[in-house]
Amino acid sequence: MKVIRGATTIEKDSKEEISSAVKDLLDEVFAANNLQKEDVTAFVFSLTADIHSYHPAKAAREAGYDFAPLFAAIEPLIDGGLPRCIRLMLLTDLDKKQTVKHIYQKGAKILRKDISEIINIALDGPAGSGKSTIAKILAQDYNILYLDTGAMYRACALKALKSGVDPKDGEAVAKLLPTLDLKVEYRDGKQYTILDGEDVSLAIRENVVSMASSNVSVHNAVRMKMVEMQREIAKSMSCVIDGRDIGSVVLPNAKYKFFITADSKVRAMRRYKELESRGEIVDFDKLHAEIVARDKQDSEREFAPLVCAEDAIVIDTSNLDINGVVAAIKREIQAKI
Ligand code: DC
Repeated sequence: MKVIRGATTIEKDSKEEISSAVKDLLDEVFAANNLQKEDVTAFVFSLTADIHSYHPAKAAREAGYDFAPLFAAIEPLIDGGLPRCIRLMLLTDLDKKQTVKHIYQKGAKILRKDISEIINIALDGPAGSGKSTIAKILAQDYNILYLDTGAMYRACALKALKSGVDPKDGEAVAKLLPTLDLKVEYRDGKQYTILDGEDVSLAIRENVVSMASSNVSVHNAVRMKMVEMQREIAKSMSCVIDGRDIGSVVLPNAKYKFFITADSKVRAMRRYKELESRGEIVDFDKLHAEIVARDKQDSEREFAPLVCAEDAIVIDTSNLDINGVVAAIKREIQAKI
């Protein structure tokens, strides 16, 4: 006996989607393996517990796959697992030594890191647009890494502040770079920013570091160093990567690019609440003015300014809830996978 595996995902739990996903999966499994009816012993499906609308075995039978026993079971949802996923285990009487092709379609491709291509999802946008929240959810749902490039510029700014260097002084900051010991580590899917051997993941979020990070990020020497590190990481693993210049400079060839934006007052309120929740009380008007100043500086700087890449999909989150935005992004990704 030889087992051929397959998996696919659906966007909506509906009879139509289940039927067409099951048919597409089986069609590809059969075509890719040049399977004949008599090769098949049984079809075994499983569905994640969030699918209820239709029985995949029925869908398979209706698609003409009715020549062997069909079975389906519900599998529990697991942390990091893909939602709305349909899996297939096709039992065949092919020779055990025969090589077969397992088929992973749509979002399921990403879950199988061993067989999937590396995918990079680029999210750019101004401060407080919601991109980091969106990036974290996408990374978790797709079971891939979240690379927060802002954290790297923030660490660089913190280094300048700690060394008594003015973040605006390009020459002085450039001189610091050879001594910048910056590492981005991942534990349990979370990014930790390590500066000179110390975990600065929290320290870099302080408001004083925000403007300083915008100041250091205008210097080309800083950008070159950061971009090189970011490209290395993105080359080696699938990730959602957020920043200002990801779609335009860091990964201009990324297949999935989004530009996330929102009204400046909405963004200032989000930052206000975020700081408040960490016990940092700031004046709202001052924070808003800082956000506008940071937007201006990030957008007008000479090197790699905040721009929307020509081929990026623009999403304004001012009046959208985060789940709606994530769903819209996933639809775009699914359509291109
Ligand atoms: O996203 P954030 O607020 O953590 O980013 C901090 C600063 O770093 C921001 O003002 C601009 C800069 N930055 C950048 O220039 N390029 C990136 N890819 C990410 C951030």
